[in-house]
Amino acid sequence: MTNEKKVVLITGASSGMGHESAKYFYDHGWIVYAGARRTQRMKDLQELGIHTHRLDVTDNESNKSFVEAAIKEQGRIDVLINNAGYGEYGPLEEVSLENVKYQFDVNLFAASELSKLVLPLMRRQKFGRIINVTSIGENVYMPLGGWYHATKAALGIWSDVLDMEIRQFGLRSIVIQPGGTQSEWGEIAIQNAEKNLMADSPYKKLVQVIKKVLTSHEITTTSRDLAKVFYKAATDAHPSRRYYRSLTDRIGVWIARNHPSLWRFGMRTMMDRMSR
Ligand SMILES: NC(=O)c1ccc[n+]([C@@H]2O[C@H](COP(=O)([O-])OP(=O)(O)OC[C@H]3O[C@@H](n4cnc5c(N)ncnc54)[C@H](OP(=O)(O)O)[C@@H]3O)[C@@H](O)[C@H]2O)c1
Repeated sequence: MTNEKKVVLITGASSGMGHESAKYFYDHGWIVYAGARRTQRMKDLQELGIHTHRLDVTDNESNKSFVEAAIKEQGRIDVLINNAGYGEYGPLEEVSLENVKYQFDVNLFAASELSKLVLPLMRRQKFGRIINVTSIGENVYMPLGGWYHATKAALGIWSDVLDMEIRQFGLRSIVIQPGGTQSEWGEIAIQNAEKNLMADSPYKKLVQVIKKVLTSHEITTTSRDLAKVFYKAATDAHPSRRYYRSLTDRIGVWIARNHPSLWRFGMRTMMDRMSR
């Protein structure tokens, strides 16, 4: 039996943007499937009536049961939001290959595997959107974020290619590029940078500087603000290929793309100030 209500699948729903989006879509009458590893952090969502699932996006059996539950119970999937992600920060000389591979598993390959699972149904339906959450860090970059930026840049181009391939079926693949947003993301990135340092690392000072850069300015954008952007991308009649939360984010991306020397100069100046 096919449900008349629209159905959205959201990964990384135990915190931040994913958690707020689950509530936002639900409040707008959607059937929501919310996935994350920390199910206890989705209890409030479950109490609302959201379908919460233990989901480890790096485990394809886990991805399969998440998607299959939605198909079996609702018979349709309108939107998949590939939101789960984190920053494996650390000096490129020192981050282990194992951690680099895990970073790609979570931020890039999981999005691909989940998309493969929903696309056959979406093609049959002749409608559906895949929303991929990258970052302004797809274009702008800072020291210690090398592997994170690489995954987000890869996810962005992957999404653009997928969009070209699936438009013929009436489907879209869309990118959202958030800038700094209140969530657990920054703390986890800094913890990883510290964890990835070797005992005698020459990069200890750099980690302290980047910690200051990431925590120096007060972030005013909330995860709920981003939930509204996710919702717009899911519901716009003629969606864009890229969505930004603010003009500042858009300008940052424009500068990094078109005037990389200017971006690097700005970054160096800020780091010099922070290292004093
Ligand atoms: N906050 C920012 O400033 C910012 C800026 C640009 C882009 N982004 C991107 O926006 C997205 C959302 O981040 P956020 O800010 O909301 O961060 P967050 O508060 O740290 O939430 C990240 C979510 O990803 C999930 N996750 C991580 N690894 C996972 C795995 N292996 N399997 C399933 N879920 C996993 C986490 O759930 P579990 O740990 O419970 O599994 C959590 O729910 C991420 O892709 C992030 O890179 C964030």
